[in-house]
Amino acid sequence: MRKRTIYFDNAATTFPKPASVISAMTSCMENFCANPGRSGHSLAMLSDEAVFRGRLALTEVFNGKDPLKTVFMKNATEGLNMVIGTLAAMKGHVVFTSYEHNSVIRPVYHYAKKGLLSYDICLPDPYGRIYPKDIESKIQKNTLAVIVSLASNITGYILPVKEIGELCKDRRLFFVVDVSQGAGTLRPDMIENNIHVLVGTGHKDLYGPQGTGFVCTNEFDLIPILYGGTGTDSMLPDPANVSPDMLEAGTLNLPGIVGLTEGVRIVSNIGSEKIHRHKKTLISRMLMGLENIKGITPYVPEENCGIVSFDIDGMDSQEAVHILSSNYGICARGGFHCSPNLHRYLKTEDKGLVRFSFGIYNHINEIDYALDALERMVRKR
Ligand SMILES: Cc1ncc(COP(=O)(O)O)c(C=O)c1O
Repeated sequence: MRKRTIYFDNAATTFPKPASVISAMTSCMENFCANPGRSGHSLAMLSDEAVFRGRLALTEVFNGKDPLKTVFMKNATEGLNMVIGTLAAMKGHVVFTSYEHNSVIRPVYHYAKKGLLSYDICLPDPYGRIYPKDIESKIQKNTLAVIVSLASNITGYILPVKEIGELCKDRRLFFVVDVSQGAGTLRPDMIENNIHVLVGTGHKDLYGPQGTGFVCTNEFDLIPILYGGTGTDSMLPDPANVSPDMLEAGTLNLPGIVGLTEGVRIVSNIGSEKIHRHKKTLISRMLMGLENIKGITPYVPEENCGIVSFDIDGMDSQEAVHILSSNYGICARGGFHCSPNLHRYLKTEDKGLVRFSFGIYNHINEIDYALDALERMVRKR
């Protein structure tokens, strides 16, 4: 079998990036990359406009109410730290699920140790599903917020965000959704789903560059995570109490924002439904093929945003991805995927899982190649 290079690690970051994302970033750096929000000259104004276009694009795609409440971050982790820090300042209890990433778990745990937050974790049912009634059973008198992922970074499971949003509305709780996995393949609507805070990363299914993330809020006032220059009220020790300025201290990643804006445009043009359909086709083919390979157990829910994770009998997941990469040119992730509670729930905390995650550039013939490679690897085991 002739070795190819195949990228199945799109849940870590999508690759390659669309040519127009790269050219938009290059054009920005060649033509107008001044410091947005600082000076008043023509190039600074062009930079300012580009940042605003980015806010508008994200606000529109998630149906937020106000582009000035869309704040740029360096990634979702930074955004989630700001949101969870804001909740900690209110002091209280939060509920999240077994699907949450360490970028939720660790900040919550950090504030729990300081006595500012307490938390409960809602477990999935035996089929991996999360039910709002199970979240509801964890709500306490001092619960402030429910925090959930849009989709799992391990199994691709799509959480019932709409139903959880209704619960949060009924119980008057803040609803925080981490859309890092899934946004782009799905199109979560802030108003329809009663989302107060939507946090995302730019470099996954929105096809922007690394170093970009965002927080969109609706009736939720964030507390800054960083203090410093904002370009406004510069003679005062406190930043002006206005969003987005006070939440974005320091120079913004303008080329990154321009790239992300273009990524959002491309994804919107293709359409999330079409992207999701494409991924479902790849998943079906993969699952059909895996049925014929003895000793492979897939962990694949029906509602899936584009991931096939699996265990290989008698083989560590890290060893498997190493062989897949070095012998067959397949780039996939093994081990633990930053969501430790889900590994515990799946009982995969000893070996982790091999994760194939698909993107818009993957082709069905790559699935066939990967199945062939897996078959050969398992036979040689
Ligand atoms: C569900 C989920 N949330 C948050 C993150 C964190 O994203 P970033 O590393 O870009 O901050 C990831 C990244 O893998 C993720 O999968």
